[in-house]
Amino acid sequence: MKIRQSSFVLAAIAGVSLLAACGGSGESAGDAATAPAAEEVVLDNGMTPAEQVKAREAQFKKMGKAFKTISDQLKASEPDVAAIQAAAASVPVESAGLADWFPAGSGPESGVKTDALPAIWEQPDLFAEKIADFRAASDALATTAEGGDISAIGAAFGTTGGTCKSCHEKFREDD
Ligand code: HEC
Repeated sequence: MKIRQSSFVLAAIAGVSLLAACGGSGESAGDAATAPAAEEVVLDNGMTPAEQVKAREAQFKKMGKAFKTISDQLKASEPDVAAIQAAAASVPVESAGLADWFPAGSGPESGVKTDALPAIWEQPDLFAEKIADFRAASDALATTAEGGDISAIGAAFGTTGGTCKSCHEKFREDD
């Protein structure tokens, strides 16, 4: 309640001073009232928490899509090896920045809806370990896919999927 009051006051002040500066442009005053500068949280990388969560979820979605493609093809009677190779190659690319997707302040404490658990910031060494396990497995999957041997690809896919799951179990909220 107190916070709301003061942000309303800040917004009102910003609106009033803008009105004075701009000779009464209603539009500018409106902008200032909806986004008072003093209220905006910016992470170390320059993104807002909402932008960061949206960006990482979009990357994870691409990884999930690639995984579905591989899984579908492995189940097909005549797997499309080229489709598997393309999807497997995309995972290390789409996840390249994973270690930087979770800057301090982009967790649930930001008020943004996210499935990232506070454990990510409480146990950074374990989180880094999960990233390293995943990276090793997904690199191996991409290399194995190049070889085109379906049963070897199946095994590498299983190992990689295990590293996704292992991180989710510890660091992502259950759906
Ligand atoms: C090092 C930890 C980690 C690894 C490895 C990992 N994830 Fe995730 N994943 C997360 C976290 C944390 C979230 C929740 C992000 C959020 O909501 O802010 C998530 C979210 C997701 C989502 C949901 C995205 C959305 O739209 O909300 C999908 C899909 C996903 N991961 C797929 C995968 C796949 C597939 C792999 C392996 C190829 C993988 N992840 C590997 C930690 C990980």
